[in-house]
Amino acid sequence: MASTFLNLLLLVVVGMFSSVCSLPPRISFLLNSTHRPLVHFKLPDVHNTTTLLLSDDSSTLYVGARDAILSLDVSQVDAVVLKRKVTWRPTAGDMKECEDKGKNPQVDCPNFVRVLQFLNSSHLYACGSFSFSPRDVVIDADSFSVVQLDKASGRCPFSPFQRNTAIAIDGELFTATTSDFRGVKPQISRHFSKHGPDVSQDSSVNLLDEPTFVGSSLDAAERKLYFFFNEVGKEFSFMDELRVARVAQVCKDDVGGQRTLQKKWTSFAKAPLLCRSPRQLPFNILQDVFSLPPPEGGDASDTLFYGVFTSQWSVGQQSAVCVFTLQDVRTAFAGRYRTLEMQTHQCNHVMGTHPFLGKCGLDAASDAELFEVKRSFLSSTEVKPATDAPLVVSSQHQFSRVAAMRTMAANGKWFTVLFLLTESGFVHKVVLLDQGPRVIEEIQVFTQPQLVKSIVLSSTKGVLYIGMSEGVTSVPVADCSVYTSCSRCVLARDPLCGWSLSSSACVRLDDRPELLAQDVENGNVEKECPPQTSISVDTVHVELNDVVRLRCVKPSNMATLTWTSPQFKDLPEKLFIQSADGSLLFHAAAATFGSYHCEAEESGYSEVVASFTVQPPASPRSTSSHDDDRHVSGGEYEEIVSEEPQTTKTRPSGGPEGEGQKNETSSTNPRPGSEPRVQGDGSNVTVTSIGDAWSSSSEEEPLNAPGGEKSYYDELVVVSLLLGLCVCVLALGCALVWRRKNVGLRQKRLLGADSGPELKVEE
Ligand SMILES: *[C@@H]1O[C@H](CO)[C@@H](O)[C@H](O)[C@H]1NC(C)=O
Ligand SMILES: *[C@@H]1O[C@H](CO)[C@@H](O)[C@H](O)[C@H]1NC(C)=O
Repeated sequence: MASTFLNLLLLVVVGMFSSVCSLPPRISFLLNSTHRPLVHFKLPDVHNTTTLLLSDDSSTLYVGARDAILSLDVSQVDAVVLKRKVTWRPTAGDMKECEDKGKNPQVDCPNFVRVLQFLNSSHLYACGSFSFSPRDVVIDADSFSVVQLDKASGRCPFSPFQRNTAIAIDGELFTATTSDFRGVKPQISRHFSKHGPDVSQDSSVNLLDEPTFVGSSLDAAERKLYFFFNEVGKEFSFMDELRVARVAQVCKDDVGGQRTLQKKWTSFAKAPLLCRSPRQLPFNILQDVFSLPPPEGGDASDTLFYGVFTSQWSVGQQSAVCVFTLQDVRTAFAGRYRTLEMQTHQCNHVMGTHPFLGKCGLDAASDAELFEVKRSFLSSTEVKPATDAPLVVSSQHQFSRVAAMRTMAANGKWFTVLFLLTESGFVHKVVLLDQGPRVIEEIQVFTQPQLVKSIVLSSTKGVLYIGMSEGVTSVPVADCSVYTSCSRCVLARDPLCGWSLSSSACVRLDDRPELLAQDVENGNVEKECPPQTSISVDTVHVELNDVVRLRCVKPSNMATLTWTSPQFKDLPEKLFIQSADGSLLFHAAAATFGSYHCEAEESGYSEVVASFTVQPPASPRSTSSHDDDRHVSGGEYEEIVSEEPQTTKTRPSGGPEGEGQKNETSSTNPRPGSEPRVQGDGSNVTVTSIGDAWSSSSEEEPLNAPGGEKSYYDELVVVSLLLGLCVCVLALGCALVWRRKNVGLRQKRLLGADSGPELKVEE
């Protein structure tokens, strides 16, 4: 015991000094991004749609909500349609009683549906908190009507905020929940038993200590059920509130003992689940678990359990994913057990093994054997991750839910893709590679923190459903169309997406006879893609001394941008500034007219993503033509102004694949008559005449004033680099004079970020 304590202390010390790696998502999509459309389902009068159940054929999604149960038609991937709704609400009397017990009528007393399971092919079972007095119903799935209503005991929690889990098998229901008003009596039990009495757990000893139940799974071959949870680890008696993650087992057909353990499990046992990096503090709080069955034809013992864990000691947003095999869980329950000292309630190691511990079929066991069962329920074997260490460790995201799927890549290799929901509302799609995990994309699904939420994955349909307090969101597991070129499709390294040479599009892999360009392991573009066709060049006309901003957007968060120009070996720092958003800023001068290329580098592959030629004005523009211009381009500007904030919102971390697409479209399909083309399409260039930079923001675009100031600052830096402070002050004076002289002159606006620049358009 002492050495365990020292070990743990050492871990604490080491843990404090070691850092955890972080995984940046390659692309980010904010909520309601038009580039990665999701389907949001909500009804004005239905809330807390958090208990989800998908039909076997993935065509119907049943939803347990507040005071209602819904059936949704999800047979179409891009639509969620309400089929039926059952209202199931406590009476005014129930509500009054709940309130009298000191509960908040709005928050605690409605009926929150917490269990939704198939009893058989035609009937659904549901259990709801029902004003802190759980009830259950049986629903005919066809007519979607309630056929039976009961007072449920021990099938779902009284409190709508306590976690529970349930699983129905062949009409029998297995639940893990607290079973009392105060929520302190945990219970794992079987209901609707077909071959014996309903069975629950022995309450003469503390089999569970303040558990939080997170999931359950069936081991059909061994006829066992597993419950995943975390609880206070009483074996660590030196630390009071040390929580540990656990898996517990019961046998499906357990009927209890004859004299000892009547109607109680004779097969209950639990084992620690360990998720820890070497020399790190353990991730000891299990948040969610997902059972991934073996590939078709595989051995059931290869079933995998993916668990997301957080740590009791973490200060920030730390979490990890560990994977366990069913085989290791079975081994733990077949091994040695600790024995509870009945007087001291301490756990010790069993000296000899009792072969019957953890086994099914003890109904005829002797009282002496069952006495041993009663006090030896904690396996001394820890279930360790199949990969020794966590698969994913994040120091920036607190994962709360997990789903996993296997998918075959174009080269016939299988890959596992995880979907991790973070507390902050993003789904991280992670592909597990030999060289480590890779976050292909992050997709925001909610903005308000959710106390209760759930996810369900249909891997056959390729859709992830997320149940939240305000509705259900359906997220396609991939949207390959966001990758607009072969190189982008291959660099994404998404096993679900490949580039079709015949249709020149990035498409979903499923059922494609055609061989698609894809390289999940290395993202080798040169090997997979035809050479890049050179992109078209935008020509920009500017006056001498204008400040030019050439825009270039990172195609992904992983890309690095470099600007090159044939007339310079390296762009001299005293003439050019590359701003954080990737733009190139400089002052138009004889030396800086010429061509510029923006190159994006990722995974050793470089590609020109934007090209410009900066030239002096082709012909002087007469003043009279300004009015016409104003009219034509006014609409364009409106569009930009409305579009710019949206784009910024969509890609906060600056890696929009779709944004890159926008650039490309702008280069290849200039919209005729939509002057000014460069600004209108891609927002690629901003030209700011020094005088205008001073005058416009307050007059025409008060809303954009902060942005205008920011970009003016950039420009000032350039100006000062070029001309020095004195010249700058002179310019300011000139500008003010000029401005006064041109009060009536029309000011033009460009981007939201830059205000009132003088605009030169190629003829
Ligand atoms: C399904 O379960 C319900 C409720 O227990 C029962 O009434 C019904 O007969 C069962 N149906 C089948 C096909 O077993
Ligand atoms: C129900 O939803 C509301 C928001 O609509 C949320 O504040 C509340 O916490 C939810 N309650 C439960 C039990 O999930």
